[in-house]
Amino acid sequence: EKTSSAQIGVVGMAVMGSNLARNFANHGYRTAIFNRTWAKTEAVLTAHPEAHFIASQTVEEFVDSLEKPRRIIIMVKAGAGTDATIDTLIPLLEPGDIVVDGGNAFFQDTRRREEKLRAHDLHFVGAGISGGETGALEGPSIMPGGSEHSYTYVGSMLEDISAKVPGPNGDEPCCTYIGTDGSGHFVKMVHNGIEYADMQFIGEAYDLLAGAGLSAAEAADVFAEWNTGDLDSFLIEITSEVLRQTDARTGKPLVDVIVDAAGMKGTGTWTVQESLTLGVPAASIAEAVFARAASSSPELRKAARSALEGPDGTVTVEDRAAFVEDVRQALWCAKVIAYAQGLHLIKVAAVEYGWDIDVAACARIWRAGCIIRAKLLDRISNEYAANDLETLLEAPSIKAMLAEANPSWRRVVARATEAGVPIPGFSSALSYYDLVRAERTNAALTQGLRDFFGSHTYRRIDTEGTFHTVWSGDR
Ligand code: ATR
Repeated sequence: EKTSSAQIGVVGMAVMGSNLARNFANHGYRTAIFNRTWAKTEAVLTAHPEAHFIASQTVEEFVDSLEKPRRIIIMVKAGAGTDATIDTLIPLLEPGDIVVDGGNAFFQDTRRREEKLRAHDLHFVGAGISGGETGALEGPSIMPGGSEHSYTYVGSMLEDISAKVPGPNGDEPCCTYIGTDGSGHFVKMVHNGIEYADMQFIGEAYDLLAGAGLSAAEAADVFAEWNTGDLDSFLIEITSEVLRQTDARTGKPLVDVIVDAAGMKGTGTWTVQESLTLGVPAASIAEAVFARAASSSPELRKAARSALEGPDGTVTVEDRAAFVEDVRQALWCAKVIAYAQGLHLIKVAAVEYGWDIDVAACARIWRAGCIIRAKLLDRISNEYAANDLETLLEAPSIKAMLAEANPSWRRVVARATEAGVPIPGFSSALSYYDLVRAERTNAALTQGLRDFFGSHTYRRIDTEGTFHTVWSGDR
């Protein structure tokens, strides 16, 4: 019985769970599978005899089918599903067993669960997994957080099934130990926030190109061209494919018949909420979340559309090629700002929650497998590895490229503003750039106002201590 026991068990046989289980099997691991409802397990067994899964009908059999210390990955509906699964497992497990949650958990839930399992001498690993269905099967980006001890048991298996980037010393896995308790899910959350921003910027770039008269097919060519340079990334690549798609029913570009209301599942919102909680400026990520919210507010849009005057979004360009190049540069700059904001959020959170996070490693494991995979991440991880950076923006090669692209970026924001093309992402990114590099900010005036109406006091630039002024308006 011992020889046939499984090296890893996967709970949850929906698409992500079954694909991850197949990924383990494809890497030669004896894999046990379990699902609350047997029918799903049975369907996976039937569809994938090649995986030689060890399937169980009951959770007791499933736990018994695993070699010790047991390694179990939970891939169920995040939230109540995760807690329910954990509660059925706990009484069946033994000290030293390792439970990995590969779902999209909120990092505070992961911290709570880690503490709960630790009290039972069980290891809990919160692993952010990015890459969707295909990634789960062929190699996702994996961000595991938990005790370092648990990583010695599951780390190499997770690294095996992760996406790979060819490196000078062989393939580099897109999986590395992130830090304790909720750190892995936190990093995954920020990854998603950056993904929102990336997509918003792409949308703004497309609006600008369309405003300048490019057809969807012409814009598709532009994005395909951009994908061969500094913007080389999964999202830019698929943007050109989405824009090229023709609708079979109408013959129009498909993008023109899709309802312009964006959905979201919450991880972008979490990122912004956490940036507010920690007081980390991440306005460009926030603008991306708000833009989706605005798009999905039909009453607001209807009322405003009929009430408000302004230019119609047509961008008059003399030199189309030059304008397209300006938009490319602006897109690159905005993207860098979103990464800077997200990585800064990780840095501050690490201090707040006591995580020893290597920011260079986060960027490194995002280079393949996940939605935000991009050539830029090579540069970002190298810069963080080589320099002690407070912000990505001070990295030598990044600041040089931002300086060079500055005129283009400003021209794009100015022209979009004049033409009435909404660019909350591009403009907030540029404002962030100008705000954080400013010698002095308008906060001096804010402090004056606060002291005026609330005696909140202020500090002076030339003397220690706090001061209050008896303002002429004080009554
Ligand atoms: P998908 O959207 O791809 O279906 P999901 O909703 O995130 O994926 O996850 C569904 C999985 O979580 C299923 O395996 C489901 O089990 P059932 O097939 O029995 O429905 C599992 N799941 C959801 N809630 C659960 C719970 N409370 N306890 C155990 N498993 C649960």
